[in-house]
Amino acid sequence: MSSESSAPGPAGATPQTVNTTGASGPPVSLPTDKELVLKVIPMPADCNANGDIFGGWVMAQVDLAGSVLPARYVNGRMATVAVNQFIFKQPVRVGDILSFFAVVARIGNTSITVQVEVYAERFRAQGRYIKVTEASLTYVAIGDDGKPRPIEKPAVMPPR
Ligand SMILES: CC(C)(COP(=O)(O)OP(=O)(O)OC[C@H]1O[C@@H](n2cnc3c(N)ncnc32)[C@H](O)[C@@H]1OP(=O)(O)O)[C@@H](O)C(=O)NCCC(=O)NCCS
Repeated sequence: MSSESSAPGPAGATPQTVNTTGASGPPVSLPTDKELVLKVIPMPADCNANGDIFGGWVMAQVDLAGSVLPARYVNGRMATVAVNQFIFKQPVRVGDILSFFAVVARIGNTSITVQVEVYAERFRAQGRYIKVTEASLTYVAIGDDGKPRPIEKPAVMPPR
């Protein structure tokens, strides 16, 4: 499929060439040291006033994706205590296929810190991945009283 099309211009003018892939930045390889924990496709209802996907929507998906690996250790309730870092490297667009990769960076007494990376396949450039977001979040295991509770650390970390 062609990634370019002719946009209508003024009568008699040479048509402009428009990149319709929506790709931005060079394609990258997917990480091999992190686990695929979530895939999702944003819809028009998730847009901001620019027509790109609302940053808060992306943050919510990252929060969900980041909780997947800690859930294996916590075995119960947990809460997000901190977003340590959050970088929107490229805009997310309607119809992108988003892949969320995560890895446990640290297991503390009651908390687990996770690195999350998000890659987009643009609607018209599938199979080419662009890193759109990276983040670090910390989750705390909590008891029925809502207070932190200790996490049982595994003797051996599970394979990535
Ligand atoms: C999560 C919560 C129970 C923690 O209670 P707390 O009394 O602040 O807990 P503590 O100070 O004992 O810290 C608990 C753990 O969190 C870690 N932590 C606390 N604040 C942190 C921060 N700003 N950044 C990173 N880690 C932090 C501590 O280092 C500790 O980890 P460790 O036991 O592995 O060393 C409490 O802060 C809370 O209920 N927060 C609201 C959670 C929530 O609603 N999240 C959704 C937001 S939309």
